[in-house]
Amino acid sequence: MKLLVTGGAGFIGSNFIHYWLKQHPTDSIVNLDLLTYAGNLANLAAVQDSPNYHFVQGDVCDPTVVNPLVYECDVVVHFAAESHVDRSIVEPGIFLKTNVLGTQVLLQAALEYSKRFHHISTDEVFGTLPLHATVKFNEDTPYQPRSPYSASKAASDHIVRAYHETYGLPITISNCTNNYGPWHFPEKFIPLAITKVMAGQPIPIYGQGVNVRDWLYVEDHCRAIELIVLNGKIGETYCVGGNSELDNLALAKLILKLMGASEELLSFVTDRPGHDLRYAMDYGKIQRELGWEPTVDITTGLRRTIDWFQAHRDWVEQCLH
Ligand SMILES: NC(=O)c1ccc[n+]([C@@H]2O[C@H](COP(=O)([O-])OP(=O)(O)OC[C@H]3O[C@@H](n4cnc5c(N)ncnc54)[C@H](O)[C@@H]3O)[C@@H](O)[C@H]2O)c1
Repeated sequence: MKLLVTGGAGFIGSNFIHYWLKQHPTDSIVNLDLLTYAGNLANLAAVQDSPNYHFVQGDVCDPTVVNPLVYECDVVVHFAAESHVDRSIVEPGIFLKTNVLGTQVLLQAALEYSKRFHHISTDEVFGTLPLHATVKFNEDTPYQPRSPYSASKAASDHIVRAYHETYGLPITISNCTNNYGPWHFPEKFIPLAITKVMAGQPIPIYGQGVNVRDWLYVEDHCRAIELIVLNGKIGETYCVGGNSELDNLALAKLILKLMGASEELLSFVTDRPGHDLRYAMDYGKIQRELGWEPTVDITTGLRRTIDWFQAHRDWVEQCLH
């Protein structure tokens, strides 16, 4: 199979390329990535010389770049996006351009050349859950995005579904909770906390640190995408979750404990505007239909991630400058 992976130089995309080439060594991957601040070819150094891996620098919004690449592939796996909520609050326009228009350009090419399309999305499209409740998001939860990032991802999900309903394009969508693991850009909470502790600096925690996220080790997410691409039912959405709910304060304390550092490094800062309180995902559908469930618990995943960051100080330095 020939895959066109968009955004493959980012966090999840690069983990996915490594994962896929390991599981499917006879397949080939073209990675289309603009190399924004979040894209880093160093993430792919181990595969860059593989005959079945090819990198193209380009914009998913540009049909002259996208069309020939989609024509050549069997399946599009679409990760490329602006992905950081805080940046979307400061500069929403680029989120609409890349996340919505870029997705539509890819869909149009997939339609033109009759290609399978898998869209990577987020639990954030569903909005926020009450803090102390057992209710979780699932495939039937109404969309209620609350940040420019999640609104742009919601719009992209809708347009992907519209291409299926209107034109019969063979699509699937996955909505996943927060990921963590190797090659995670250190603006996001877990890699930020780890790199701050490595530098002996305070970990900034929004508000009182009460916001809850459901954490998933990135390799588990890659395996979920693999199963959906290979066996997912066309036209369907799959919710992917970690069964690992933690509030930000508890998570920061766990990271400090695993790194042998003092809780004096906790530093409370002004909360993010419109900060979603809680995300949690019911992954029953993908578990029942495709046999997927998370395999890496949060402590094991964090240990692996901390070890990875400590062994890749050059990579961290490169991201920070
Ligand atoms: N990180 C998470 O916890 C998480 C959870 C669920 C879903 N997602 C989704 O997964 C996908 C990947 O997330 P990530 O955390 O790896 O993001 P990331 O920010 O680390 O990577 C995004 C990649 O897309 C590339 N890109 C940006 N604009 C582009 C454009 N116009 N054309 C081509 N490439 C472009 C960047 O250069 C970068 O390599 C996103 O769609 C995101 O919404 C992320």
